[in-house]
Amino acid sequence: ITAARDEETGQLTLGGLGVRELARRQGTPAYVLDEADWRRRAQTWLAAFGDYSRDEPPVHYAGKSFLSKAVARWAAEEGLGLDVCSGGELAIALAAGFPAHRITFHGNNKTVEELTRALDAGVGRFVVDSQQEIERLAQLAADRGAVARVMVRVTVGVEAHTHEFIATAHEDQKFGFSLAGGEAAEAVRRVFKHRGSLELVGLHSHIGSQIFDTAGFETAAHRAVGLLAAIREEHGVALPELDLGGGLGIAYTSEDDPEDAFTIVASLKAIVARECFGYSLPTPRITVEPGRAISGPPGITLYEVGTVKPLEGLRTYVSVDGGMSDNIRTALYDAEYTCALASRTSEAEPMLARVVGKHCESGDIVVKDTWLPADVGPGDLLAVAATGAYCRSMASNYNHALRPPVLAVLDGAERVLVRRETEEDLLALDLG
Ligand code: LLP
Repeated sequence: ITAARDEETGQLTLGGLGVRELARRQGTPAYVLDEADWRRRAQTWLAAFGDYSRDEPPVHYAGKSFLSKAVARWAAEEGLGLDVCSGGELAIALAAGFPAHRITFHGNNKTVEELTRALDAGVGRFVVDSQQEIERLAQLAADRGAVARVMVRVTVGVEAHTHEFIATAHEDQKFGFSLAGGEAAEAVRRVFKHRGSLELVGLHSHIGSQIFDTAGFETAAHRAVGLLAAIREEHGVALPELDLGGGLGIAYTSEDDPEDAFTIVASLKAIVARECFGYSLPTPRITVEPGRAISGPPGITLYEVGTVKPLEGLRTYVSVDGGMSDNIRTALYDAEYTCALASRTSEAEPMLARVVGKHCESGDIVVKDTWLPADVGPGDLLAVAATGAYCRSMASNYNHALRPPVLAVLDGAERVLVRRETEEDLLALDLG
């Protein structure tokens, strides 16, 4: 992360702004995104690919990690494509003026309404995920005299070493067509039957999320190329694209040691080229869909400490003004985070602390184990690192919590990208 300590005041700064001023002006809890860092990460991913066409970027930002209109504009300006997986994400992207032809539409149960909207908007690629969807999309496209560009989502049978809930390429789960079971080849046949309304441009594989071990991506690439070869054999067509999804892990703690974009892209390119050479197959255009690796590290969450409860011989519970409603990842995936006293420095001894929220639930933990100065108390600000991905986008109103704002900081100024919810917002939905 790019947060630094201001020597004079001892407070953390991000994007040239001290957290104390930020909290005073915007309140807490608040998500803060370093815009320059976000953009730099986007550029790094694109640079890892070298040359590419501006209209068909090889990197599609996964909007599920965090999407707002401003972020969609950053993605557009930096030249990224965009992966959306719901009508809501599509609506934000289109409202931001994101070029529809650079959007890929995902989902295992896209509704007719969503497919229709995406077709009418001219979305670049539909990643089809079921036989029913293929028929639905073919019909909707035919009704409009349109041709939808399609990728077939393939389950390649890789056991990704990550939390079960975010692994997606083992056989027993809801996404994709099984490669081993022959469903993928069957899906390809079905798409080819609708040549007038569906154009099959390639295969898609996403093996999971928060992955450090590149072997999983390599196996996925190897198996996907095998299917490309089988498709050429059966249909005489070499599909031009192969999307290997997202999932590259980031460092949440100092123990995590992620690969960088250049290494992963170079290794994927080399494997695909080598495998294709073996089949005398033209090398497809490779695309990827990083979410967390672009939006995670540039974000922090700022909280204010409300109460401190030392439990003799165990640890100290430090309660902050947010919790599982703004970061569900600790409760859901046992995720680990790094946390720091943000508003000042302290010479006090470190104490083993658990940072908890204000929800009515004992599993409401933000950071399970951390060392904080023993004099941390009410009014102090804590910062939790690498919360730019899957925190605001998975936030809830549990206990009628008000979801925090998302602030972008750049060159010493902040901008509110998403405002804080208010009790009026809650009451407006409640029709009595
Ligand atoms: N492409 C597809 C098809 C995906 O399903 C996902 C994530 C991505 C790309 C982006 O993955 P990333 O590069 O961000 O790892 N809520 C979980 C993560 C679930 C991700 C689901 N799909 C978490 O908080 O860790």
